[in-house]
Amino acid sequence: MKLIEAYNLEKSFGSVKAVDGVSLYVNKKEIFGLLGPNGAGKTTTIRMITGIIPPDKGRAFIMGYDTLREPLRAKRHVGVVPEIAAPYVDLSAWDNMMLVGKIHHVNGRERRDRAIKLLEMLELSDAMHRKVKGFSKGMKQRLLLAMALISDPEVLILDEPTSGLDVISARMVRSLIADLRREGKSFLLTTHNIEEAGMLCDRVAVINKGKIIAEGSPEELKINFNGFRSIRIVLDRDIEDIEKSLEGFEVLAQGRKILITCKQNEVNELIRSITRLAESSGARIEEIQTTGPSFEDIFMKLIKGEYK
Ligand SMILES: Nc1ncnc2c1ncn2[C@@H]1O[C@H](COP(=O)(O)OP(=O)(O)OP(=O)(O)O)[C@@H](O)[C@H]1O
Ligand SMILES: [Mg+2]
Repeated sequence: MKLIEAYNLEKSFGSVKAVDGVSLYVNKKEIFGLLGPNGAGKTTTIRMITGIIPPDKGRAFIMGYDTLREPLRAKRHVGVVPEIAAPYVDLSAWDNMMLVGKIHHVNGRERRDRAIKLLEMLELSDAMHRKVKGFSKGMKQRLLLAMALISDPEVLILDEPTSGLDVISARMVRSLIADLRREGKSFLLTTHNIEEAGMLCDRVAVINKGKIIAEGSPEELKINFNGFRSIRIVLDRDIEDIEKSLEGFEVLAQGRKILITCKQNEVNELIRSITRLAESSGARIEEIQTTGPSFEDIFMKLIKGEYK
């Protein structure tokens, strides 16, 4: 059974087509990531799926319930952390948890047990009786996640759950998501963090300008790029106009560091060209490394529309 389904969602704001025919689904025990740059249409897609805004076209279902026609049923099994949300700052973390629990009709005993467990998992136990006013951004974000989980929902929809968090908070959130998936929960999340999507998600859809331009497991997306290699070079000084000298290749130069993406059969030729270029400019190659494309390389290629 598919826990979330969306078919051909479309949404325009004035002349801006924010979402242009997005379809997606989330299976049970799956972390599905909607990955895209700023303004790609991630939040708009999420808002249509959660029934916050109606789509111009298309339909969305949660646990089989149409999110517009049967919003209460659809929302009963879902926990949501929107892109912009805040706990009540004049309440403590604990009181926020109790309030959300009551709204979701979680009975008293269960509400308290779950709150204790969740606050512990997100390392908020020590701060739980303090007013949220004094919380850091990372603490607030973790509390929002705990609040979304108090009703023990089957499926979670998280819009950029780690955005703006430091490494430690982000890791805490990611490992909680992975743990909960192992317990049987399903996730629809958005991110613009490519490595995060690669690490965390079972399936990823890359969205750009309102359209899904690629979809698959992170491994599948990489396999599609098997013919490509990335060459990383560090020189002892920068060579002027290196991009021009290597015309025809995709070259990214930043001072002494150069990154080139090319086809497998071009690697040798390229390395020869660079060695010649370095010699003639009196530069020395300090480091040279050939790797398969990283998830970031793939993403950049997709976004640029160069992937065929
Ligand atoms: N309420 C709105 N009114 C007008 N334009 C909007 C509105 N919401 C979104 N847009 C526009 O729709 C497009 C998609 O925005 P959206 O917020 O869905 O992108 P996003 O992928 O979530 O970006 P980000 O990574 O920055 O959060 C953008 O061009 C945005 O300016
Ligand atoms: Mg967004």
